[in-house]
Amino acid sequence: MRYFIFIFIFIIVATVSIMGFRGSKSLKPPLEVFPDMDRMGKYKPQAENTFYVDGMADRPAVPGTVAAGSFNEDHYFSTGKINNQWGKGFPVKVNHKLIQLGEEKFNIHCSVCHGLSGDGNGITKTYGMIATPTYHSNRLRSMPEGEIFNTITHGKNTMGAYGVKLRLQERWAIIAYMRTLQKSQNARLEDVPLDMRKVFLQ
Ligand code: HEC
Repeated sequence: MRYFIFIFIFIIVATVSIMGFRGSKSLKPPLEVFPDMDRMGKYKPQAENTFYVDGMADRPAVPGTVAAGSFNEDHYFSTGKINNQWGKGFPVKVNHKLIQLGEEKFNIHCSVCHGLSGDGNGITKTYGMIATPTYHSNRLRSMPEGEIFNTITHGKNTMGAYGVKLRLQERWAIIAYMRTLQKSQNARLEDVPLDMRKVFLQ
């Protein structure tokens, strides 16, 4: 019992004296029981390193190196611009498959605001987002494909950017589908194949 009291007092004194210094400031290097890889050999940016013939620690990029995900041979396909102007037309082959992909992606990402038919009356209008334009105006009908591509990629005013959510091919597919929607609301009888015309003439 006598030993127990001694040991007990010793533990209390040791604990209080060690813990008592926690948070206090000192100019001396801290006591490190485990260094935890806090320090390791390294070169700071633009430092000297005599190991290399040119004496630089920074190694220059191998000629022709391209950052991952930043290379696209076709400038128009990835920016919507041709010679710094909005390009017209499609840099991809427009076929039924592309339009179907566009329909799928449009319905997922755009229809909530622009409406399933592109009339600008998506569900968000009923919740107060009244600025969403219809695609069936002369301005948007004649807007270059490249400019629409840019709006999808970077957004515009209250419309968010969809570049991070849609692959390049998917963005062009949506534009193709947008053109389909526009045509559907602005077609003449002559646009309809001969054998189908009678449906509209009834
Ligand atoms: C959250 C609602 C919302 C969604 C989702 C949305 N838009 Fe928009 N969009 C808007 C609004 C609002 C504007 C008007 C922006 C402005 O000019 O102030 C707009 C404008 C546009 C314009 C016309 C830009 C111009 O220069 O006048 C195009 C084209 C367009 N959107 C395409 C799309 C496409 C394609 C998608 C899907 C990838 C999409 N939007 C998704 C709200 C939305």
